[in-house]
Amino acid sequence: MNVVDLFAGCGGLSLGFARQGFNVVGAFEFWEPAADCYRANFDHPVSDVDLSNVALAVEAVGAFSPDVIIGGPPCQDFSQAGKRVEAERANLTQCFAEIVAVVRPRCFVMENVERCRSSRAFAAARRFFKGAGYGLTEIVLDASRCGAPQKRKRFVCLGVQGVADGFAAEIFESRLSKKPTTPRDYFGESLPFEYYYRHPRNYNRRAVFSVDEPAPTMRGVNRPVPKGYPGHPNDACSLAERPGIRALTTAERAQIQTFPADFRWVGTKTDVEQMIGNAVPVKLAEFVAETLKIFLGKTCVYDYLV
Ligand SMILES: C[S@@+](CC[C@H](N)C(=O)[O-])C[C@H]1O[C@@H](n2cnc3c(N)ncnc32)[C@H](O)[C@@H]1O
Repeated sequence: MNVVDLFAGCGGLSLGFARQGFNVVGAFEFWEPAADCYRANFDHPVSDVDLSNVALAVEAVGAFSPDVIIGGPPCQDFSQAGKRVEAERANLTQCFAEIVAVVRPRCFVMENVERCRSSRAFAAARRFFKGAGYGLTEIVLDASRCGAPQKRKRFVCLGVQGVADGFAAEIFESRLSKKPTTPRDYFGESLPFEYYYRHPRNYNRRAVFSVDEPAPTMRGVNRPVPKGYPGHPNDACSLAERPGIRALTTAERAQIQTFPADFRWVGTKTDVEQMIGNAVPVKLAEFVAETLKIFLGKTCVYDYLV
């Protein structure tokens, strides 16, 4: 099945779908550093069309005649890190839906932060999806129960033409791991540390984590332990007792996001950290892709898969 990835970033979602046998034929990303990084890892074209221009986007995306459109519209305006207002960027969720509704691939997958689910932008997007004849499965997935060693909750809306709503809910539920994955589960005993520092948004939150619990959400910035870090009662251990504790490196963060070690990270450190924080964990993308594949197999359209 031919897939086009919208708002592709460095390609976490694309990589997960490719690993599950989907044929990714095109990507759309207008932030040059991310597009360059994507190009370094995939052979298909990356377009810089601004996807807020729906008419132009429909023409460019439609040219691929995709069977599946996947994408994670930017989520800053929904996310805890954002201003909690639904501003212009949130409307890109609606742009995604409008593009899907006109191009009308057999299936689509939209990924976003958890808060997207109850937003006005998603309510509008939903109307476009339903008006275009899609059955929807809407679910919040925790990446740590989908094979990634990270607690990262993401809203996923899966659409397939002409089927009943909730079509893949049972498949999703039955495939979630009972126990969340930890870095020690994922990396084995090769980890060079037991504890690490993840800079908190404010000091009301903990900052020291153990490799025996799912890692916290990898964000777009990575800071070293500041001088005079006051500590937090819920830190996995006290920095004063273990002064060697450090922040994760860029490469370690990428691996917690389940990118393979040979993924080529192109760009400045700041840009790469941002791409890593923006990405869908590859294992989560694979989990969603495989769920879609299982559903399509059950409905006898598995033959579409290349
Ligand atoms: C949440 S990130 C996507 C991450 C990606 N799905 C992955 O797994 O790596 C959203 C991306 O949308 C891009 N973007 C934002 N507005 C855009 C627009 N109007 N047109 C095209 N791309 C846009 C951003 O540059 C950013 O890289």
